[in-house]
Amino acid sequence: MCGIVGYAGKRRVVPVLLEGLKKLEYRGYDSAGIVYLKDDELVTHRCEGKLSRLEASVEEVFGVQAHCGLGHTRWATHGAPTEQNAHPHTDCSGRLVVVHNGIIENYHSLREELKELGHTFTSETDTEVLAHLIEENLDTDLAQAVRRSLQRVEGSYALGVMSADFPGTLIAARSHSPLVMGIDDQGSSYLASDIPALLPYTNKVVFLEDEEMAILSDGAWQVCSLTTGDSLEKEISIIDWNAAMAEKAGYKHFMLKEIFEQPQAITNTVSGRINLETGEIVLPEINLTIKDFAAIDRIFLVACGTSWHAALVAKYWLEKYAKIPVEVDIASEFRYRNLLIDEKVLTISISQSGETADTLAGIRRAAQLGSKVITICNVVGSTMTREADGTLYTHAGPEIGVASTKAFISQLAALFLFTLYLSQVRKSIDAEQRRELGQHLIESAQTIEQILPRIQAEIRVLIDSFYDCRDFLFIGRGVNFPIALEGALKLKEISYIHAEGYAAGELKHGPIALIDKDMPVLAITPQDSVYQKSISNVEEIKARQGRIILLGSEGDEHLKSITDHIIYLPLVHEDINPIIYTIPAQLLSYEIAARRGCDVDQPRNLAKSVTVE
Ligand code: F6R
Repeated sequence: MCGIVGYAGKRRVVPVLLEGLKKLEYRGYDSAGIVYLKDDELVTHRCEGKLSRLEASVEEVFGVQAHCGLGHTRWATHGAPTEQNAHPHTDCSGRLVVVHNGIIENYHSLREELKELGHTFTSETDTEVLAHLIEENLDTDLAQAVRRSLQRVEGSYALGVMSADFPGTLIAARSHSPLVMGIDDQGSSYLASDIPALLPYTNKVVFLEDEEMAILSDGAWQVCSLTTGDSLEKEISIIDWNAAMAEKAGYKHFMLKEIFEQPQAITNTVSGRINLETGEIVLPEINLTIKDFAAIDRIFLVACGTSWHAALVAKYWLEKYAKIPVEVDIASEFRYRNLLIDEKVLTISISQSGETADTLAGIRRAAQLGSKVITICNVVGSTMTREADGTLYTHAGPEIGVASTKAFISQLAALFLFTLYLSQVRKSIDAEQRRELGQHLIESAQTIEQILPRIQAEIRVLIDSFYDCRDFLFIGRGVNFPIALEGALKLKEISYIHAEGYAAGELKHGPIALIDKDMPVLAITPQDSVYQKSISNVEEIKARQGRIILLGSEGDEHLKSITDHIIYLPLVHEDINPIIYTIPAQLLSYEIAARRGCDVDQPRNLAKSVTVE
């Protein structure tokens, strides 16, 4: 949801801003803009549409001698995605600018008040009120003017402010939207909504917390409290990602690269956490004691989108092995429903970004009600990891494609690991069974590595007859039902084909009415404990002239009597199937979207990190 970058230092600012924005474009791509200070004037460039348009329009100023500036890539909330509404937004004098990520909830009343005071507005955005409010409060101290202004503001923001009258200085502030500072040894200070924008320059970062403000200038930085104005001590964190990890490395799309990185993502997530001699699972960052776990009698899993699908899979695993009741909630529902939560509940949030607004609000509510909170998260230092009692990092590396792939696989790996860990704490399965299951999890990385090229080649052929469909159904049973949901989500978000996921047994309660030759069905039918039931459901579809794609177990000859479109997958332990069967579902969506000429990495209307409600 919008990306912010800022720079103050000795480098030429335009390339730094554009490079940073490229790394943040996954956060929003409706419009983009930059501003820098040159000869005592602020110079602003803004463009509707993708960043490439802005880049082309600033070609001539690429080498300009300017060393302090801000940039923004937008995901529209208030006001259409036009140039007029693109950030940065200026005050009446044109000497002060603001870039903003978040929503100013009381912007309407502030706008009316400021208009009465004589301010003229040029956009429909909520952000513009900030520029005028700061102008109204400005005397000799820019930081204090920002602080005073923000005391009037309700809502969420990550903010960058600069003024031609305070050359070389940037002010940053955050409340409920992510913001991180970067510092290097050459006297430069950077600002960004997310770490990948900083990686080409530095791996030393300072995370801003809610209600904090930073003053950045050439070679210096200071953080203070937005509430009191007092200076704060901040820790410098070292990030172990590098810039190359956020590049395409020869792949056509980030999504494809990330699909192929999944074996490594699983390995990174499990490595050092399973002792294959003793069956012991070691998760020190969970940070909860045996006594804490003994007090827990229920688990709530809270997440959105793809991460919610990972949670749905985990319910099957946790109830089967850790023998504890599990509820799974979509975070935007969880946060507003009547929660029967107390200190006997463990709440686990699952999030790639660790910044999703609804999920964050959900764990805050659960904590208020007395629940311990663990977060399963990919982004080191993200807000959820800082607020939870304990963390289980997924170590998938930076995920840039807007459609989540390797983050999902590593969430599954982390949740399986957590299931084994909880089974160990609760003594619900013995060490040998844990060791065996741990071994199956580790081996899943190798299995995926081996099948990826073959599956991609087979899917490329198979989609000839399916890429131009208007609708699609995905069905699965048991632990693979959530994979049907995930397959349908992937297809709709990147190819714009209408797709639905169903529990196979539910089909006859309504959706089977949709079946005809124009409604292909992808069915997940491994030889597992519900195999016969799944096959019966597929036969019901066949009897109604449905076109079927089957994902099934190698050696299952019976499938050939049902359809010609079969992708065979290796026989693995049945609880590992969701990890393996996700791969063809992802590749099917990818190949269809690529064949249809869709913008795979940046699908329309979406943004990767959903930091607004
Ligand atoms: C779909 C997708 C989204 C995210 C959802 C939650 O491919 O990526 O559905 O899974 O927005 O995001 P995180 O995991 O960052 O909380």
